[in-house]
Amino acid sequence: MALRELLVSVSDAEPPADARRFIRDAERRIDQFQAACRVPAFVPCDYATAYKVLRALSESAVTRGPRFCEWGCGFGVVVGLAAMLDFDACGIEIEGTLVDEARRLAEDYDLPTEFVHGSFVPPGAEDRVHKAGTYSWLTTEGDQAYEDLDLDIGDMDVIFAYPWPDEESVVYDLFEHYAGDGAVLATYHGSAEFRLRRKVSDRKKGPKRKRPRGR
Ligand SMILES: C[S@@+](CC[C@H](N)C(=O)[O-])C[C@H]1O[C@@H](n2cnc3c(N)ncnc32)[C@H](O)[C@@H]1O
Repeated sequence: MALRELLVSVSDAEPPADARRFIRDAERRIDQFQAACRVPAFVPCDYATAYKVLRALSESAVTRGPRFCEWGCGFGVVVGLAAMLDFDACGIEIEGTLVDEARRLAEDYDLPTEFVHGSFVPPGAEDRVHKAGTYSWLTTEGDQAYEDLDLDIGDMDVIFAYPWPDEESVVYDLFEHYAGDGAVLATYHGSAEFRLRRKVSDRKKGPKRKRPRGR
């Protein structure tokens, strides 16, 4: 299995009014939250661009199904936007106060979402994560998240994450190891940069070139 970069054309059209209202309110709540009790690991991504990327995925044939999960979902804003785009959306977050905020926000907008308190690192992957590096914020406690969701990583069609720079390669590694064939990983990397990758089986990488004789 391998990860292949995915090129999807993302329209610049503004999100619709209900999504813009939701984003404005979420950003206001996040500002208030951060003024009162900062969780240093939580930094919001660019939500308007996240909406455009998810809209492009929902309208394209590249996604194999509607199941969406955000790894480290913070306030659950991207989960809410995914639900607005008709994904079956859930989020996993390690900080309990953020899970409460995410649930409150989704409830206030009547969005069909599910949030679980725990780690997106699946049980059994802890060694893999710790061997791959040291991290400022990534933790591996709380390994019942997928049990609570009654889903495995392999069930997710689209996973979104905003990893800190020191978490990027381990997020790719976890996705490559545990996601299902054809699943899409969308990641945010600051500014307006989103990257899309798809898990493909090696045999879909293209025909092997024949080696010239004598080499
Ligand atoms: C950079 S923030 C991004 C938040 C959210 N994705 C957004 O864009 O608004 C990363 C989030 O991942 C959470 N996190 C860190 N390690 C985690 C883990 N192992 N499982 C679940 N969440 C985790 C942090 O608490 C933080 O809220």
